[in-house]
Amino acid sequence: MSDASYTPTILALACQHRGYAAADLAGSMHLQYPASVRVIRLPCSGKADVLYLLRAFEEGADAVFVAGCKKGMCHYLEGNYNAERRVKYAKKLLDEIGLGGERLEMFFFDAADGPLFAQAVREMAERAQRLGPNPLGRPGPRQDVQEESQ
Ligand code: FES
Repeated sequence: MSDASYTPTILALACQHRGYAAADLAGSMHLQYPASVRVIRLPCSGKADVLYLLRAFEEGADAVFVAGCKKGMCHYLEGNYNAERRVKYAKKLLDEIGLGGERLEMFFFDAADGPLFAQAVREMAERAQRLGPNPLGRPGPRQDVQEESQ
Protein backbone atom coordinates (compact mmCIF):
# COMPACT_ATOMS: atom_id res chain seq x y z
CA MET A 1 0.00 0.00 0.00
CA SER A 2 1.46 3.34 -0.99
CA ASP A 3 0.04 6.71 -0.01
CA ALA A 4 1.83 9.67 -1.56
CA SER A 5 0.02 12.06 0.79
CA TYR A 6 1.66 10.73 3.90
CA THR A 7 5.11 11.52 5.21
CA PRO A 8 6.43 8.60 7.22
CA THR A 9 7.72 9.28 10.71
CA ILE A 10 11.04 7.53 11.08
CA LEU A 11 12.81 7.02 14.34
CA ALA A 12 16.54 6.35 14.51
CA LEU A 13 17.95 5.03 17.77
CA ALA A 14 21.62 5.89 17.39
CA CYS A 15 24.46 4.90 19.66
CA GLN A 16 26.33 7.99 20.81
CA HIS A 17 29.57 6.89 19.23
CA ARG A 18 29.59 5.88 15.56
CA GLY A 19 25.83 5.77 14.95
CA TYR A 20 25.26 9.33 16.09
CA ALA A 21 28.49 10.55 14.50
CA ALA A 22 27.29 9.21 11.14
CA ALA A 23 23.92 10.95 11.63
CA ASP A 24 25.67 14.17 12.57
CA LEU A 25 27.94 13.96 9.55
CA ALA A 26 24.98 13.34 7.23
CA GLY A 27 23.49 16.58 8.54
CA SER A 28 26.76 18.51 8.26
CA MET A 29 27.22 17.31 4.69
CA HIS A 30 23.68 18.49 3.85
CA LEU A 31 22.91 15.12 2.34
CA GLN A 32 19.47 14.46 0.93
CA TYR A 33 17.27 12.39 3.22
CA PRO A 34 13.74 12.72 4.59
CA ALA A 35 13.48 15.43 7.22
CA SER A 36 10.87 13.39 9.08
CA VAL A 37 13.57 11.31 10.77
CA ARG A 38 13.98 11.81 14.51
CA VAL A 39 17.28 10.72 16.01
CA ILE A 40 17.46 9.63 19.63
CA ARG A 41 20.93 9.19 21.04
CA LEU A 42 21.63 6.13 23.17
CA PRO A 43 24.84 5.35 25.07
CA CYS A 44 25.15 2.20 22.95
CA SER A 45 22.85 0.45 20.48
CA GLY A 46 22.75 -2.38 23.03
CA LYS A 47 20.47 -0.12 25.09
CA ALA A 48 17.71 -0.53 22.49
CA ASP A 49 15.71 -3.32 24.06
CA VAL A 50 12.68 -4.96 22.49
CA LEU A 51 10.26 -2.91 24.60
CA TYR A 52 11.75 0.38 23.34
CA LEU A 53 11.44 -0.82 19.78
CA LEU A 54 7.82 -1.92 20.14
CA ARG A 55 6.94 1.22 22.11
CA ALA A 56 8.17 3.36 19.21
CA PHE A 57 5.56 1.74 16.97
CA GLU A 58 2.91 1.99 19.66
CA GLU A 59 3.67 5.74 19.75
CA GLY A 60 3.07 5.98 16.00
CA ALA A 61 6.45 5.61 14.28
CA ASP A 62 6.08 4.30 10.74
CA ALA A 63 9.62 2.92 10.62
CA VAL A 64 12.39 2.52 13.17
CA PHE A 65 16.03 1.71 12.84
CA VAL A 66 18.88 1.16 15.22
CA ALA A 67 22.18 2.75 14.26
CA GLY A 68 25.07 1.01 15.95
CA CYS A 69 28.83 0.94 15.58
CA LYS A 70 30.32 -1.33 12.97
CA LYS A 71 30.69 -4.91 14.10
CA GLY A 72 33.75 -5.36 16.27
CA MET A 73 33.88 -1.62 17.08
CA CYS A 74 31.27 -1.23 19.86
CA HIS A 75 32.71 0.60 22.87
CA TYR A 76 30.95 -1.92 25.07
CA LEU A 77 32.17 -4.85 22.97
CA GLU A 78 28.92 -6.77 22.51
CA GLY A 79 26.29 -4.01 22.50
CA ASN A 80 25.72 -3.96 18.76
CA TYR A 81 25.51 -7.75 18.60
CA ASN A 82 22.89 -7.70 21.35
CA ALA A 83 21.00 -4.97 19.50
CA GLU A 84 21.11 -6.98 16.28
CA ARG A 85 19.61 -10.00 18.08
CA ARG A 86 16.86 -7.88 19.63
CA VAL A 87 16.02 -6.20 16.33
CA LYS A 88 15.77 -9.62 14.69
CA TYR A 89 13.43 -10.82 17.44
CA ALA A 90 11.30 -7.66 17.34
CA LYS A 91 11.02 -7.94 13.53
CA LYS A 92 9.53 -11.40 14.04
CA LEU A 93 7.03 -10.03 16.56
CA LEU A 94 6.08 -7.23 14.16
CA ASP A 95 5.47 -9.79 11.43
CA GLU A 96 3.35 -11.91 13.79
CA ILE A 97 1.10 -9.00 14.77
CA GLY A 98 0.76 -7.91 11.14
CA LEU A 99 2.62 -4.61 11.44
CA GLY A 100 5.46 -5.79 9.22
CA GLY A 101 8.98 -6.62 10.34
CA GLU A 102 10.31 -4.58 7.42
CA ARG A 103 9.45 -1.45 9.38
CA LEU A 104 12.38 -2.19 11.66
CA GLU A 105 16.06 -2.57 10.80
CA MET A 106 19.54 -2.45 12.23
CA PHE A 107 22.43 -0.70 10.50
CA PHE A 108 26.10 -0.55 11.45
CA PHE A 109 28.12 2.59 10.90
CA ASP A 110 31.54 4.07 11.18
CA ALA A 111 31.85 7.74 12.18
CA ALA A 112 32.60 8.70 8.56
CA ASP A 113 29.46 6.99 7.23
CA GLY A 114 27.30 10.09 6.79
CA PRO A 115 26.30 9.01 3.26
CA LEU A 116 25.37 5.53 4.51
CA PHE A 117 23.27 7.04 7.30
CA ALA A 118 21.39 9.17 4.76
CA GLN A 119 20.92 6.07 2.61
CA ALA A 120 19.53 4.16 5.62
CA VAL A 121 16.97 6.91 6.25
CA ARG A 122 15.93 6.89 2.59
CA GLU A 123 15.67 3.09 2.67
CA MET A 124 13.42 3.13 5.74
CA ALA A 125 11.28 5.92 4.26
CA GLU A 126 10.82 3.87 1.08
CA ARG A 127 9.80 0.83 3.10
CA ALA A 128 7.34 2.88 5.15
CA GLN A 129 5.90 4.38 1.96
CA ARG A 130 5.47 0.93 0.48
CA LEU A 131 3.87 -0.50 3.64
CA GLY A 132 1.69 2.56 4.27
CA PRO A 133 1.10 4.39 7.53
CA ASN A 134 1.50 2.54 10.81
CA PRO A 135 -1.96 1.02 11.36
CA LEU A 136 -1.69 1.79 15.07
CA GLY A 137 -1.85 5.44 14.03
CA ARG A 138 -0.79 8.44 16.00
CA PRO A 139 -1.77 8.31 19.64
CA GLY A 140 -4.24 10.83 20.95
CA PRO A 141 -3.60 12.92 24.06
CA ARG A 142 -2.39 10.81 26.95
CA GLN A 143 -5.19 9.90 29.31
CA ASP A 144 -3.01 10.10 32.41
CA VAL A 145 -1.82 13.63 31.49
CA GLN A 146 -5.41 14.79 30.94
CA GLU A 147 -6.48 13.37 34.28
CA GLU A 148 -3.62 15.10 36.08
CA SER A 149 -4.51 18.49 34.59
CA GLN A 150 -8.16 18.30 35.68
FE1 FES B 1 28.17 2.03 19.46
FE2 FES B 1 27.90 0.09 21.30
S1 FES B 1 28.93 1.96 21.50
S2 FES B 1 27.06 0.20 19.33
